[in-house]
Amino acid sequence: MKHLNKIAYIIVLCFLWQSSLHAQTIEKIAPGVWKVSFGTPEKFKPSEFKDAPALDAMKQLQDNEKPPFDLAEIKFKTIQRGCVAELTMDESEQIYGFGLQNNTFQQRGFRKEIRVNSWSTGNVGFSHAPVPFYVSTKGYGVLVNTSRYATFYCGTMRKATESVNIKEGGNASVASSTLDLYKPLEKPSNSMIIEVPFEKGMEIYVFEGPTTKEAIQRYNLYSGGGCMVPAWGLGVKYRGKGDYTDVKAEKLASYFRKNNMPCDMFGLEPGWHSVAYSCSFVWKPSLFPNPDRFIQRMDSMGFKLNLWEHAFTFPTSPLFDPLKDKSGDFSVWKGLVPDFVDPEARKIFGDYHEKTFINKGITAFKLDECDAADYKDAAAQWSFPEMSVFPSGIDGEQMHQLYGVLYQKTLLDVFNRQNKRTFFDVRSSQAFASPYPASLYSDMYDHREFVRMISNSGFSGLVWSPEIRETKSDADLIRRTQSGVLSAQLLFNSWYLNNPPWLQYDYEKNNRDEFLPNAKQLESQVRKLLELRMSLIPYLYSAFATYHFEGIPPFRALVVDFPNDSAVYKIDDEYLIGESLLAAPFIDGTSKRSVYFPAGTWYDFNTDQKYEGGKHYAIEMSLDQIPLFVKEGTILPLAKPIQYITPNTVFEITCHTYGNSCKPSTLFEDNSYTLDYQKDQFNKISLEWNGKKETVTKKGNYPGNSYNVVGWVKH
Ligand code: GAL
Repeated sequence: MKHLNKIAYIIVLCFLWQSSLHAQTIEKIAPGVWKVSFGTPEKFKPSEFKDAPALDAMKQLQDNEKPPFDLAEIKFKTIQRGCVAELTMDESEQIYGFGLQNNTFQQRGFRKEIRVNSWSTGNVGFSHAPVPFYVSTKGYGVLVNTSRYATFYCGTMRKATESVNIKEGGNASVASSTLDLYKPLEKPSNSMIIEVPFEKGMEIYVFEGPTTKEAIQRYNLYSGGGCMVPAWGLGVKYRGKGDYTDVKAEKLASYFRKNNMPCDMFGLEPGWHSVAYSCSFVWKPSLFPNPDRFIQRMDSMGFKLNLWEHAFTFPTSPLFDPLKDKSGDFSVWKGLVPDFVDPEARKIFGDYHEKTFINKGITAFKLDECDAADYKDAAAQWSFPEMSVFPSGIDGEQMHQLYGVLYQKTLLDVFNRQNKRTFFDVRSSQAFASPYPASLYSDMYDHREFVRMISNSGFSGLVWSPEIRETKSDADLIRRTQSGVLSAQLLFNSWYLNNPPWLQYDYEKNNRDEFLPNAKQLESQVRKLLELRMSLIPYLYSAFATYHFEGIPPFRALVVDFPNDSAVYKIDDEYLIGESLLAAPFIDGTSKRSVYFPAGTWYDFNTDQKYEGGKHYAIEMSLDQIPLFVKEGTILPLAKPIQYITPNTVFEITCHTYGNSCKPSTLFEDNSYTLDYQKDQFNKISLEWNGKKETVTKKGNYPGNSYNVVGWVKH
């Protein structure tokens, strides 16, 4: 922290606003990060639970030594409802972020309430991972360090003072429909008004750019750096039916191996618990009579086994008594709600998991139900209420907002201290979660929204998996699987399906074991896609390393890299993967769509057809073609597909070059099962081709070998 003191300086500003005297403190807290504090700070701020910032990496970014806008111009006030801040936007600024938003993308012109929920409610901002953070195309980011249900009025409100100058306009004509009558402001206002309820103060973090991308990088690095998932976490994840026995799970596992269907991770759903809603965290003897033997058998087939759970603790659980005095005053599904703000409660929960599961070979967990009951359903109030009281002093609202993050932290601490990598599924997250290796998922199932969520996840340090369950048709199955292949986690969540969806995608028939007549054909189409995913792992793994070390999200909207191209401002159905790939999924089984290419020349991954940037094209692809495009000048390392990853895996790499000469490309090499990369135990392998000569150069301290470059293909 010493070096921080050096750069930190404090300016106290006093100014008059709304006829009362208010002071705000402006402090530089890290390179390019400014904290503006007003009034009495909130006690349970997200920052209280965050990892240390990745300061060395932050120093690599250009630091302008001055904030991106005049921070003294932020107007604060406390009112009876809480605390309000007002910032001004330029006319042309576009706003993105607020976490895993599902049905809005460019956020200017919307009121967004940052409230965790298991389902969206209109487009008001509720989300599994609502993050009070936004970025602007003007090249800065703003985070409100709150665990309250904060509301951001992104240009939807005009102050009464603005009316004084308005002499013309108004609505002279009488509206002829309610739609017309209540239509949004023709032009959003320039005010960003933020309301934090209950609190008598606010803390705002401002992240410098100068570009949108660098503002995001700073946010991720300040959070601790992007997550490092194990290489096996980038393989295929399959979750079996909730009531599977050990025999059924093993049978399905051997189906994968016998039929050469790549799969790395196998997930058990609720049935493994002796009691599941709430959870006992004890194996059910009738379904899993010998868990140790089961874990060992799955492991011998190369599966990394993970367990579904939620934190609500059933009275018969061995965790119940130790957590009794460390839980909230409301129960959920008759279970305790552990107070994960209390380090002691986290330790009890974590130690139990370590002893009972992690030491026995369980590699990860699915942290379910940590968001909140669907707000729009008044009867299904399964979660704890906002009025809950917890021993640490946090209330139900704040706990809802932070529960996903605290839950991840509770179990991640164990993996970290064991020097093991993991990859969770989690249904909720919030601010500063970038370092957590966890992928968000949802019970919602709109393919279009799932793709938009990939674009949105990259604005706020989140990882998202558009899972595949049942589908409507062959085309829907294939297109959804393609979107899964082109996402951070490829997940088949068959928690209510007896058989894989490619054998039967109709839910009822699947559970009657009636297979599709063309099941084998679909299986082979899906196999090809799973193999493509395995081929992409080295590229994706490097993109995640860049996320960790530089803060650049591996999956991100086009606007992140092309903030000056106004044609991309609304594009939320295409996104970038790493530096060089552009995905443009086909939604709802279609085979035609319009694709916009940003600057550069782009190659169809399937056919090598070239497209010039700056234009829209009508693109048609058969179900055997993947909607993926490669930027000219790229060296794309593709691996020979394998079924699953082991600590001894060596990928056979073929470098695909696009164009007459290419930028060097990097493979990241380390022991992807441990955290030794934190001790400089890694290599960077530079792949180069200047149009004449191919070179492969390895630099670094890691003695192992995960890649073998076997060939070059010119496109
Ligand atoms: C849901 C979860 C599903 C599945 C199910 C099992 O809450 O989103 O993916 O795990 O619980 O009960």
